[in-house]
Amino acid sequence: MTPEMRVLLAHLALLCVLPVKWIEGATSAAHPTECNVCDCREGILDCSVTSSDTFNIVLRLPLRNYTEANFMLNHIEKVETDFPLAYWRTLRLNENRIAEIKVGAFANLPLLEMLDLSHNLLTSDKLKPHVFKGMYMANEYQPMHNLRVLRLGHNDLHTLHPDVFEHLPNLESLILESNPLKHIDKPTIIALSSIFSLHTLDLSNTGISEIPERMLHTPRNLSTINLSRNNFTSVPEGLGDSHALKHLILDSNPIEVVRSFPALPKLEVLHISWMPLLKKIEKGGLNGLPALQELHCSHNDRLVEIDKAALSTPTIGEEQSETWPPLKKLILDNNRLRYLDQEFLDQWDKLDVIDLRGNDWSCDCENQWIVTSLIPIMRKANLDTAMDIICQEPVEMLGQNMRELSSLDYHMRCLDYYNHQPEKDATLLVWIVILVVALIPLAMGLVLYYRRNFATRNIHYIRTYYKPTEQHLFT
Ligand SMILES: *[C@@H]1O[C@H](CO)[C@@H](O)[C@H](O)[C@H]1NC(C)=O
Ligand SMILES: *[C@@H]1O[C@H](CO)[C@@H](O)[C@H](O)[C@H]1NC(C)=O
Ligand SMILES: *[C@@H]1O[C@H](CO)[C@@H](O)[C@H](O)[C@H]1NC(C)=O
Ligand SMILES: *[C@@H]1O[C@H](CO)[C@@H](O)[C@H](O)[C@H]1NC(C)=O
Repeated sequence: MTPEMRVLLAHLALLCVLPVKWIEGATSAAHPTECNVCDCREGILDCSVTSSDTFNIVLRLPLRNYTEANFMLNHIEKVETDFPLAYWRTLRLNENRIAEIKVGAFANLPLLEMLDLSHNLLTSDKLKPHVFKGMYMANEYQPMHNLRVLRLGHNDLHTLHPDVFEHLPNLESLILESNPLKHIDKPTIIALSSIFSLHTLDLSNTGISEIPERMLHTPRNLSTINLSRNNFTSVPEGLGDSHALKHLILDSNPIEVVRSFPALPKLEVLHISWMPLLKKIEKGGLNGLPALQELHCSHNDRLVEIDKAALSTPTIGEEQSETWPPLKKLILDNNRLRYLDQEFLDQWDKLDVIDLRGNDWSCDCENQWIVTSLIPIMRKANLDTAMDIICQEPVEMLGQNMRELSSLDYHMRCLDYYNHQPEKDATLLVWIVILVVALIPLAMGLVLYYRRNFATRNIHYIRTYYKPTEQHLFT
């Protein structure tokens, strides 16, 4: 069936069925007629994957009693009419081709909590503040009080109108992912920093490389920010302006070295994974995060080193005293780590989850503590699946599993200080053997020479020396 035929059928269905249904409705309980073209179940009006005409026709019907209306994948290009008065809490208009929305189109949806406009063609100049205008009731203007979640991902927004959210006083979650923002300009800063109630901000995949100063100052309850798949080359200092950040996602950014973090006293969950360039987390690189509970740092193809003092903070005033965050989850799988220092964390037994798999672990005495202390802790906590810590070096340990070494109480040898390669030790051994072999004839030659020139004379001497006694004894 071609889309055109489907549209035609939808029209026919409505034209033929509606009058019948209305007549029926006069005698029996009224059935919602839109259910002939859409799917109606349990308060959900599902008009997805129909057509833009269905959308326009259905909107003329009374659709009051649904809690959710779904118009995704309908090739809708414009929202030209207001939505009818309805008590929907969720409205899905995603995956259409919407480039324009009428001013006040949502004003008759006073209970709307979630509006999904993602995967459309909205541009900055078309997304005007009055699009989100609320209702006039008893000569009094009402903003869209209940709208909490606004999804605008995958559109064509380069910037935001400074007042675009002025009718949404309780907006908590704003999804802007995959828009070509590239740079957060002044109007966008004003728009974002005016959402007092914001909890979650998704700016992932927007090409940005900076968080402007003070942008996060006003939304005092902002707790989650997604900055993944952007162009950050260091941890953005602008995050330090937030007050309540708990959850930070920095995955897939071109950060090479994590040198420092702005102070985020409430941060609980940090994601720094899938970073193609990340090589090192430096000393103090993760301090300033005293509430950190989860560190997700995995699939960083070049990460070879995490400093033993990356997480700990020296206590001010006291020498040799440090504090560590109350970490519960430590996810370090699939990096290129060779070593992990025991001092990286103070209480390894407080972890609920630990994953060290898929690294380049060196099985030598520097990592002995993993075999001796960490694996027994993991075993006690039943973290069995995460225990496959496979040795990649030295060669004689390649492929060994630290879990098995632990059950054998194995003591791993220490590597040569200057070169960690045992094959070089072997070369040294060969040289020693060659030297010894070469020295043997030389030594023998020397001995012979010595004997011929000195030894006989000495024997002579001894003989003459003892001769009188001997003579005395035998006589
Ligand atoms: C909405 O639901 C109520 C009962 O929950 C019912 O009485 C009313 O007729 C329904 N209205 C429409 C337009 O379907
Ligand atoms: C932030 O959260 C607190 C406590 O949950 C609440 O009392 C306050 O009103 C919130 N502030 C804003 C601007 O939403
Ligand atoms: C953050 O954004 C990325 C990319 O858009 C997405 O894949 C991921 O699910 C998001 N994470 C959270 C916790 O929202
Ligand atoms: C990321 O930044 C680099 C240099 O700073 C720039 O050349 C590149 O175009 C940026 N990429 C994106 C997607 O903005």
